[in-house]
Formats: sequence, structure tokens, C-alpha cells
Amino acid sequence: MAKVTYLINGKKTIIDVPVGSSLAQHGIDNGLEIEHACGFNCRCTTCCTKVNKGADLLSVKMEHESEKLDMKGMHGNERLSCQCVVEKDGEIEVEFESWHQKEEEDKGDTVFI
Ligand code: FES
Repeated sequence: MAKVTYLINGKKTIIDVPVGSSLAQHGIDNGLEIEHACGFNCRCTTCCTKVNKGADLLSVKMEHESEKLDMKGMHGNERLSCQCVVEKDGEIEVEFESWHQKEEEDKGDTVFI
């Protein structure tokens, strides 16, 4: 069991996640709002998260996940949370930013209503 701190748009939630569970699926099953436009199929990147702590407790990045992150220019601690499976006990911290909020920020100061 890993103790996972989910930071979603600045709100902190701590959930025990069993070994073998995905960060995205387990978070959603526990009421968190994690975007997942492609249904956990590694196609959309809306479930992207930054792993601030405990990256070594997660499954390694597979080729298809690396390709998606490369396409988005993400070469740091980003992961697709639907592809991250907890493999070891310990403490993990992941940080999410709303995809829609990020798109609006990328558009500059214009507010679209
Ligand atoms: S839900 Fe689409 S890549 Fe994770």
C-alpha cells in the first residue's frame, strides 16, 4: 500500500493506493476529478501528472507513454497517471493541473466564456 498525496489544482487529498492499482483509476474511484478523455488508453495525455515524490515506487514508463509525453514536450517528471501503477509501498506525491485551465492559460490573457 502506498500513501499517495494527490494535489489537484492546489487541493491536497491523501489516499492509500494498493500495489497493482493505477494512480488515475484509484483516484477517480475515490472521488477525485482526474481528467481521462481517452478512458485510460494512453492516447490523450489529459491525465498527465507531475510526480513530485516516489517515482521509483511506480511502474516504469513504457514506450507508448514516452512517445505521448515526447509529443507534448514533457521530458521531466511528468507521467500519464493512467499508465502509472503502484509497484511498491511508500509515499508518493503527484500534482495535477486542470487540462482546460492550462489551455486557457496557454491562450494568454483572453478569457473565453
Ligand atoms: S486517460 Fe488518456 S492518456 Fe491517460
